[in-house]
Amino acid sequence: MAGKFMRAVLIHGYGGGAAALKHVEVPVPVPRKDEVLIKVEATSLNPLDWKIQKGVIRPFMPSKFPFIPATDVAGEVVKVGSHVNNFKAGDKVVAMLRISTGGGLAEFVVAKESWIVNRPAEVSAVEAAGLPIAGITAYQALTQSAGIKLDGSGKPTNILITAASGGVGHYAVQLAKLGNSHVTATCGARNIEFLKSLGADEVLDYKTPDGAALKSPSGRKYDAIIHCAITGISWSTFEPNLSENGKVIDITPGFSTFVTFAVKKLTFSKKQLVPLFSTPKSEYLEILVKLVKEGKLKTVVDSKQPLSKAEDAWTKSMDGHATGKVIVEP
Ligand SMILES: NC(=O)c1ccc[n+]([C@@H]2O[C@H](COP(=O)([O-])OP(=O)(O)OC[C@H]3O[C@@H](n4cnc5c(N)ncnc54)[C@H](OP(=O)(O)O)[C@@H]3O)[C@@H](O)[C@H]2O)c1
Repeated sequence: MAGKFMRAVLIHGYGGGAAALKHVEVPVPVPRKDEVLIKVEATSLNPLDWKIQKGVIRPFMPSKFPFIPATDVAGEVVKVGSHVNNFKAGDKVVAMLRISTGGGLAEFVVAKESWIVNRPAEVSAVEAAGLPIAGITAYQALTQSAGIKLDGSGKPTNILITAASGGVGHYAVQLAKLGNSHVTATCGARNIEFLKSLGADEVLDYKTPDGAALKSPSGRKYDAIIHCAITGISWSTFEPNLSENGKVIDITPGFSTFVTFAVKKLTFSKKQLVPLFSTPKSEYLEILVKLVKEGKLKTVVDSKQPLSKAEDAWTKSMDGHATGKVIVEP
């Protein structure tokens, strides 16, 4: 049962990094009629969380301060709103919280019923918490933007995944292999064997000349590049590596991405650069949870910290060198 107060970590304004995280006791949130109260067992951080703190999407996010960061949680339902039909107290779930209101760095959260998915016993809270933003982005990039069929029934495809060792990238490698793609991945030298163990066929160290040039060791041209590296890569680097109708799917689009996107569209270029902003939907999350249950997809955990050390997790994510997902446990 939830008491009246809970531990949480919040920020009072923009900037300040991990040092600006404040540990507080706040009232346990009360679910509205279409919401569920969840006792959090694991929360995963995403770069979005510290980008919101940096003010990258101000003035839209967060909707107000003080703000409890983080959106991706797994836990147990403790209470449901009057209009909630599909969940009851005791259910194990994974949920996405509203980006504008956050809430994940806390002992309890409220989530909209439509953004919650049941979590089978085979899927741990940590594995599930990694999935919402990172897993859904990888899923959408591959299935919707690159046209990969996860049952392997599509045509053979060459895929390059940049920053494949990160939260999004490590899911993308596994999903692309389920889709029977030939996967080339970029990462730092320390993660080459790790990515091979996830199924990557070729791995490039991004700090070498061939890695920086994104050149496939076997001379392949890529039908799709899922660009997850936070550092920008120019079109002139992507272009010679693309197949005739190849596409770059850029999940970290900057101004130049939008310019190139428009130019390629307007000139009817066969090679395209497409910015992608994922649209979290519970149906995608359900597919990912099922894949984890079936042992076809795994969440690799970079590090786990208790809520009392949320600063360490925050710093780890901000440093940009996580391998897999950064987890916080209340
Ligand atoms: N558009 C969307 O909807 C959407 C959704 C999710 C995420 N994103 C964005 O996508 C980016 C990646 O997210 P994430 O969660 O995967 O981040 P992450 O987990 O923090 O990524 C860290 C990993 O990236 C690797 N890396 C960094 N620079 C690299 C480079 N130039 N080449 C190859 N590997 C590199 C690091 O390897 P080393 O330690 O070896 O450097 C590290 O393993 C973030 O900017 C995030 O905000 C966008």
